[in-house]
Amino acid sequence: MPDELFERSWSPESWRSRTAAQQPEWPDEQVLDAALDEIRKLPPLVFAGEARTLSESLDAAREGKGFLLVAGDCAESFSSFSADSIRDTVRVILQMSVVLTYGSGVPTIKAARMAGQFSKPRSAATETRDGVTLPSFRGDNVNDFAFDAVARLADPQRLVRGYHQSAATLNLIRAFAKGGFADLSRVHAWNQEFVTSSTEGQRYEVLANEIDRALRFMRACGIDLEAELQLHQVDVYTAHEALILGYEEALTRRDSITNDWYDCSAHLLWCGERTRALDGAHVEFLSGVHNPIGVKLGPDATPEDAVGLCQRLNPGREPGRIVLFSRMGADRITETLPALVRAVKLANHPVLWACDPMHGNTFQHESGYKTRRFDDIMRELHGFFDVCHANDEWPGGVHVELTGDNVTECLGGTEKIGDTDLKDRYETMCDPRLNARQSLDLAFETAELLRR
Ligand code: PEP
Ligand code: CO
Repeated sequence: MPDELFERSWSPESWRSRTAAQQPEWPDEQVLDAALDEIRKLPPLVFAGEARTLSESLDAAREGKGFLLVAGDCAESFSSFSADSIRDTVRVILQMSVVLTYGSGVPTIKAARMAGQFSKPRSAATETRDGVTLPSFRGDNVNDFAFDAVARLADPQRLVRGYHQSAATLNLIRAFAKGGFADLSRVHAWNQEFVTSSTEGQRYEVLANEIDRALRFMRACGIDLEAELQLHQVDVYTAHEALILGYEEALTRRDSITNDWYDCSAHLLWCGERTRALDGAHVEFLSGVHNPIGVKLGPDATPEDAVGLCQRLNPGREPGRIVLFSRMGADRITETLPALVRAVKLANHPVLWACDPMHGNTFQHESGYKTRRFDDIMRELHGFFDVCHANDEWPGGVHVELTGDNVTECLGGTEKIGDTDLKDRYETMCDPRLNARQSLDLAFETAELLRR
């Protein structure tokens, strides 16, 4: 079907006539519909104007005038929801952005995998333990992590709870971003106690001192720093995988200014490696909303897939709309990514290329824990920069799973988390996350790559 026909027939519910991968088996359609009706009546979480500002920044980044940092939990949870954990994650994101901006000289666009990153695609629909088979855990807004027949039933009221938790989370993020916490004069305060004494923490302190000095210098030159809003506030956008389409549809609203549709559940929505089928429901849904859209591309993605997705999601070639997240794995990126980058360039599609160095490097450790090696993550990032440079593309961003907590989920880093350390503080419900120190380490190394 030509693209114009797709466009004409699009509506927030047009995905329903397509195959939707990775949807939960809701036990009762009526209960689901009631929950979605409830969400439909709730206020939007973000505004269309904010999504447009993000698009503008992404377009500037595409031209080398910015760098996108997408960061946060693999899956947010209901049980570990607290002001402290939100603050600690925001704090790491702010630290990383300062390191990236200071090192690269370009603004960091901050998108938190928060306030909506609840649902998870799974490699298998069921999970078997000791001869018992139950539905897989699909994220806290679908079912419960506990391995129990009742807990694993999909419950639509969880979507409503997910909405409310997202609203509360976003409220706090906005307060942190605009209410003083993100003020550049507090750059030292973002260093957490357990990080301060570490190598990364010390390196960060040196940088923070330099920023202090630069601020003092500007003040001495007579610049009125109080009047410079950019020094006191930041924009923190939100991003998540648009997985549960009923939920995304219920939050899709027409912008009163442009009359265009926006998915107001987050600023940036992405389709995952398992939900990016060209003729599938997720791509259909995302093709019609005007938010910036991300697409994950794994090692099996072909150049035709990459170009087809750009064409389908952005036939008008609008700048600032598409972010392609390469997630190939450290061993494969330099072999698989170049053809994709070249094909998209040849097709003249304006995209921002970014790297998710996490999801292609996950493996099951012999102890049973799902983990990732910090070295593999860095190796993939290096490969990404090499491929971009070789093909005259700006390496436009990084997409990482992290937490502000002192967890032991990924191996390595300067603290050398080893095989036997994983069990100490392995707290994730889904994929292993970088801890605050590893995140800072990654930011320093990425800043160096950007400087080259
Ligand atoms: C994720 O970002 O958590 C995820 C599941 O990624 P991918 O679709 O790339 O596997
Ligand atoms: Co993940």
